[in-house]
Amino acid sequence: MFRLVRNAPAMLLAMAALFTAAIWGAQNKPGAPATPPPAATQPAEYVGSQTCQMCHEDIFNAFQKNPHHQVETGNRDGWATRACESCHGPGSKHADSASAADIRNPAKLKPAETDKICLTCHLNRPTHVGRINSSHARNQVSCTACHSIHAYGPNGLVPRKQADINKLCAGCHADVWASFQRPYKHRLPEGAMSCVDCHNPHGSFLPRSIQTVSANEPGCFKCHGDKVGPFTYEHPPVRLEGCTACHQPHGSANPRMLTRPEVRFVCLECHSNLPTPTPAATLGTIPPAIHDLRSPRFQNCNLCHQKVHGSYVSRDFLK
Ligand code: HEC
Ligand code: HEC
Ligand code: HEC
Ligand code: HEC
Ligand code: HEC
Ligand code: HEC
Ligand code: HEC
Ligand code: HEC
Ligand code: HEC
Ligand code: HEC
Repeated sequence: MFRLVRNAPAMLLAMAALFTAAIWGAQNKPGAPATPPPAATQPAEYVGSQTCQMCHEDIFNAFQKNPHHQVETGNRDGWATRACESCHGPGSKHADSASAADIRNPAKLKPAETDKICLTCHLNRPTHVGRINSSHARNQVSCTACHSIHAYGPNGLVPRKQADINKLCAGCHADVWASFQRPYKHRLPEGAMSCVDCHNPHGSFLPRSIQTVSANEPGCFKCHGDKVGPFTYEHPPVRLEGCTACHQPHGSANPRMLTRPEVRFVCLECHSNLPTPTPAATLGTIPPAIHDLRSPRFQNCNLCHQKVHGSYVSRDFLK
């Protein structure tokens, strides 16, 4: 081996010889070089969608209305006239045998393998909600868990209505859906909004697959633009911890979807010298002496600190 490495050209030659022998060996079983190999050892070939039509008439007909029909006619991605095989792989063997064992069925593959098929065409292609990279993929949820290629109806290839999307997501995220039944929440149960308004099911640059708007800002700002800033006086947690430092985005028992039943408890979690239940990374200042926290007057912090999301004029967010 050592000698071969020192003599690189010789090694290349040796490898080439081995490689040729391997191919030759695969095509011609030793001992019977003259007879053609049995069909079973030949790799399957592409036969075109018309061949599939013979036995899968219903699917073939329905496919004419499938967005993937563009693959069949438009020479998108080089699969003209053989769209079926763009997902199912070459079908000659199966067309001969009509056996399930001879054809690729994405429903029977591992999620990652299914995704690979879809992503040969869809990787980084833009969609309504952004670009497809991955996210559910890491958790063994494949493209076909949410997109059924041959099924139509409300949850057809792409769920579009808000209510249909919510139903799809709620099917696996029952706990999250339960949160939306709380008294203070976005109007998802009413079908006025969907999970996809805040999450990108295809993944995003932010944790928890949070949607992004202009320049990778969290998707909340798409609708709550007045909270974007930049403000002259920023309230650090709005920027750093984000909205969830004080709000429960999936719904809450507390008004304004706050994390605590009263505003002051939200504030005092950071603005006090009491030990905090969840030690915040950055703690705020202690309210100055004018604050008599036992007096009801000082319990509604936002009565005076009206601009807790940031202010253009007041360092203390008073206006
Ligand atoms: C000669 C008839 C025939 C032709 C031609 C044919 N199929 Fe099939 N196909 C069948 C039958 C029969 C089954 C059901 C097999 C079973 O359940 O054992 C089947 C099943 C399938 C399955 C499901 C396999 C599974 O794992 O359950 C897929 C996918 C499929 N065919 C795709 C294709 C594609 C793509 C083509 C064209 C390249 C094609 N078929 C051409 C007869 C055919
Ligand atoms: C974009 C990818 C894609 C294309 C194109 C495609 N299929 Fe499929 N096919 C699938 C997937 C994924 C499944 C597994 C079931 C599912 O998730 O819908 C499937 C399942 C099947 C089955 C199994 C029966 C069933 O309903 O589960 C047959 C048969 C089949 N396809 C035939 C075809 C034929 C014929 C064509 C062309 C007219 C075609 N497919 C085009 C992705 C595709
Ligand atoms: C051969 C390339 C190719 C493969 C493989 C492929 N697609 Fe597509 N897909 C397309 C094309 C082309 C369109 C038409 C819309 C477009 O321009 O993106 C499309 C559209 C779609 C749409 C959007 C339909 C709409 O109404 O806008 C979904 C969802 C989709 N594909 C899912 C899948 C899934 C899931 C798989 C894997 C099972 C898959 N695709 C495999 C090429 C492909
Ligand atoms: C967790 C569910 C889920 C998974 C997993 C998923 N998608 Fe989607 N996808 C959706 C939803 C919901 C929409 C519709 C978004 C909207 O209308 O805003 C969508 C939209 C799309 C569209 C675009 C339709 C359009 O016109 O905007 C394509 C293409 C697509 N998905 C392909 C894929 C591919 C490829 C994969 C696998 C890598 C995948 N999806 C995985 C839920 C999912
Ligand atoms: C087939 C089941 C399934 C469906 C359908 C589904 N999910 Fe998931 N989702 C999972 C699993 C499994 C995980 C990983 C475990 C967890 O975090 O709960 C996950 C994780 C997530 C996460 C956390 C991701 C992260 O990066 O931490 C979000 C957000 C999410 N899903 C949103 C959605 C949305 C929005 C929809 C509907 C478009 C949806 N899911 C549909 C199964 C599903
Ligand atoms: C108003 C925006 C918004 C909506 C609508 C929304 N989410 Fe979320 N979701 C978030 C935010 C923000 C987080 C991150 C929470 C955190 O960092 O603790 C999150 C976290 C998650 C997680 C991660 C685990 C967890 O429970 O914290 C899952 C799963 C999830 N969302 C699924 C869903 C599903 C399913 C829907 C629709 C039924 C949905 N979300 C609707 C904003 C939203
Ligand atoms: C698609 C638009 C949209 C997105 C995205 C969105 N919201 Fe909202 N939000 C609304 C609307 C509309 C209301 C008004 C209340 C209602 O729908 O009943 C609202 C209300 C609220 C309220 C006040 C509830 C009350 O009782 O007054 C809070 C807090 C809130 N949103 C936080 C968030 C956070 C945090 C995010 C991001 C994780 C977010 N929102 C993303 C549309 C949106
Ligand atoms: C430091 C805690 C804190 C953070 C962080 C925070 N909020 Fe709030 N938010 C509050 C409090 C307290 C109220 C209640 C104010 C009131 O009742 O007048 C509120 C009220 C709201 C309301 C309803 C009333 C209004 O002003 O429109 C919306 C919408 C809202 N927040 C959105 C957001 C969004 C979006 C983010 C992230 C960018 C965010 N909040 C971050 C504390 C916070
Ligand atoms: C997650 C922690 C956190 C929460 C919750 C929080 N704050 Fe803050 N707050 C901070 C930090 C950190 C600063 C910056 C302190 C500094 O600059 O030294 C700050 C600054 C302030 C300031 C400006 C004065 C100063 O010290 O610069 C006021 C006023 C204020 N917060 C009020 C509130 C009110 C009212 C609430 C409740 C609605 C609240 N905060 C909730 C962390 C928090
Ligand atoms: C009656 C009105 C009022 C209420 C209610 C109120 N504050 Fe204040 N707060 C002020 C004023 C005015 C200042 C500015 C004081 C100064 O500049 O000396 C201030 C300043 C602050 C500061 C900034 C201290 C600094 O060093 O700049 C913090 C933090 C603060 N308040 C937190 C709170 C918290 C938490 C609550 C609720 C428990 C609360 N405030 C309730 C009026 C109020």
